[in-house]
Amino acid sequence: MTGDLAAFVRGLPKAELHLHLEGTLEPELKFMLAQRNGVELAEKTVAEVKATYRFHDLTSFLRVYYPAMRVLQQPRDFHDLAFDYLTRAHADGVRHVEMFFDPQAHTGRGVPFHTVISGYRSAIVAARREFGISAELILCFLRDHSAEYAMATLLEALPYKDWIIGVGLDSDERGNPPSKFADVFARARQEGFLLTMHCDIDQTDSIEHIRQAIEDIGVDRIDHGTNIIEDDRLVELAKSSGLALTCCPVSNSFVTNRMKADEITALLDRGLVVTVNSDDPSYFDAYAADNYLALARQADLGVEHLVRLAENSFRASWIPAAKLERYLHDIREYVAAYS
Ligand code: HPA
Ligand code: ZN
Repeated sequence: MTGDLAAFVRGLPKAELHLHLEGTLEPELKFMLAQRNGVELAEKTVAEVKATYRFHDLTSFLRVYYPAMRVLQQPRDFHDLAFDYLTRAHADGVRHVEMFFDPQAHTGRGVPFHTVISGYRSAIVAARREFGISAELILCFLRDHSAEYAMATLLEALPYKDWIIGVGLDSDERGNPPSKFADVFARARQEGFLLTMHCDIDQTDSIEHIRQAIEDIGVDRIDHGTNIIEDDRLVELAKSSGLALTCCPVSNSFVTNRMKADEITALLDRGLVVTVNSDDPSYFDAYAADNYLALARQADLGVEHLVRLAENSFRASWIPAAKLERYLHDIREYVAAYS
């Protein structure tokens, strides 16, 4: 199996739950969109773009991430971005994906909310028709902006409720705790959205932020959240309630000095619903299957752990029970055929 592990992982049915659509912008598409929209770029080659991908923490990553988005202007730009990602995800064995988008990163520079979401939505419909992949959208608020701006964005999204399964919280966590957005998340819950939020790796107040997310906000899932391992009480709380974590090993190795493979594996072994995801795959050069493989290599995981991670990805997702059973059945059939 060792030689075949990559092929096994790529074919293994899986869901991806921590994926920023704006983080899937590959340099080639960036050039194409820049040309389409008459945007002048400082970098002229893929190598030059990639040379700017030097991050040492979340903040330095975000400084490269947001300016790149100015090439996204028309509905078809957002369509192309999402469709390209869904094409790659399908090739990686991803059957279902719940994708973040950052409307404020676009509305804040004058691109209407409708432009953004209609482009993403048409890609979801097209990819489902073409590949049978199912996809949902999660609207993320930018936590380094005000709670009032987040609330205004939530209200702007209400006419598109049927296209959005949940809300999340991303961008720079320093000094921006979950509690800052308590009212926004309460209103989102009232409107029927599911709730998740980033508790990024090794933040100044990681444990307190995780506690707030679980106990004060009542989230349905946590994005990253790996630092929970430092607090036994929170680990037991997450375990007893089945609260899932969307871990991103390769991303961790870019914004910290390690993949946190030992922590991720320990949490998995302690019975938490741990999942593996790509976060911002074009920036970290690793899509879904690459992340499973990187973790497996780093923590010396075998088929049993990889299958559990794939099962967890569907258990942690926001799909109906019947669909969950079908995917778990597909995993069992796939594994049986392989061995
Ligand atoms: N954390 C916070 N903001 C982000 C991330 C992340 O992992 N990816 C893209 N925006
Ligand atoms: Zn993220």
